[in-house]
Amino acid sequence: MSTETVRCDIDERGIAHLTIDRPKALNALNSDVLDGLDAGIRDLAARDEVRGVFVRGAGDKAFVAGADIGQMRELDPAGAEAFARRGLAILEQLERLPAPVVAVVDGYCLGGGCELALACDWIVATDQAVFGQPEVGLGIIPGFGGTQRLPRRIGPAAALDLITTGRQVDAHEAQRLGLAQHVVTADSLEQTLSGIAKAWLRNAPGAIRAAKEAIYTGADLPQDRALRLEASLFAGGFAGDEQAEGMAAFLEKRKPGYAG
Ligand code: CAA
Repeated sequence: MSTETVRCDIDERGIAHLTIDRPKALNALNSDVLDGLDAGIRDLAARDEVRGVFVRGAGDKAFVAGADIGQMRELDPAGAEAFARRGLAILEQLERLPAPVVAVVDGYCLGGGCELALACDWIVATDQAVFGQPEVGLGIIPGFGGTQRLPRRIGPAAALDLITTGRQVDAHEAQRLGLAQHVVTADSLEQTLSGIAKAWLRNAPGAIRAAKEAIYTGADLPQDRALRLEASLFAGGFAGDEQAEGMAAFLEKRKPGYAG
């Protein structure tokens, strides 16, 4: 399901690429892009065959340089609230996709772009990536979850540093802060993504989904309830074919074959 500004391609292995394709505006998130993201993410959510998702920005300059400033300029408070709620709802759907989702950041990843990357499960950045939440320089605060997901990812002090100064950080500093998980050269990016995709495909898809569910659902629960949730999802794994196949394959010294 692709639109003019968002491409959603799923290969025959179930690896999806969700690409924001508005490079002339550094992939800024205008209402067309938000509509395209909404449609693409709904499509991915409805497909059981999806084993993993890479979110990317088209062109060689930006992942996403933020929400569209030209469109936001026209908003009154009610319009701004509706715009923020729309962005938040779309990013929540992305975060809730059952398969793992990686943000592939090459170039500018600012404002709403950084918030989009934070709604992905983790970030692979090239050494040309630049991260930041520059909203206070525009007289606003982050509106697509930055004040909430950034401190949860890197801690409140580091998030306050980035959000109140609006400063940009390079990929290596983003990695030190825990914002980017992998930093690679632009030349080795595709090889890194291929390695991640192969790992997703090698492992049991139901177990991967259950692990993701345990992590996100457990994060909102007190630890005792979260641990019981893990036990119940662990037990659920013994009801299907994956555990039988995985353990038999280990004991028979062969590779497991999981139904995709
Ligand atoms: N919105 C709309 N258009 C944008 C944009 C944005 N966020 N970012 C870049 N563009 C457009 C520019 O206007 C320019 O368009 P024209 O060619 O038509 O003039 C084109 O993309 C290329 O950008 P630049 O010429 O500015 O490129 P540069 O290399 O000189 O600078 C940049 C790159 C530092 C990223 C600069 O474009 C920039 O500062 N962009 C804005 C970043 C920003 O403030 N983002 C936060 C937005 S607020 C937000 O996201 C709120 C929220 O939380 C939801």
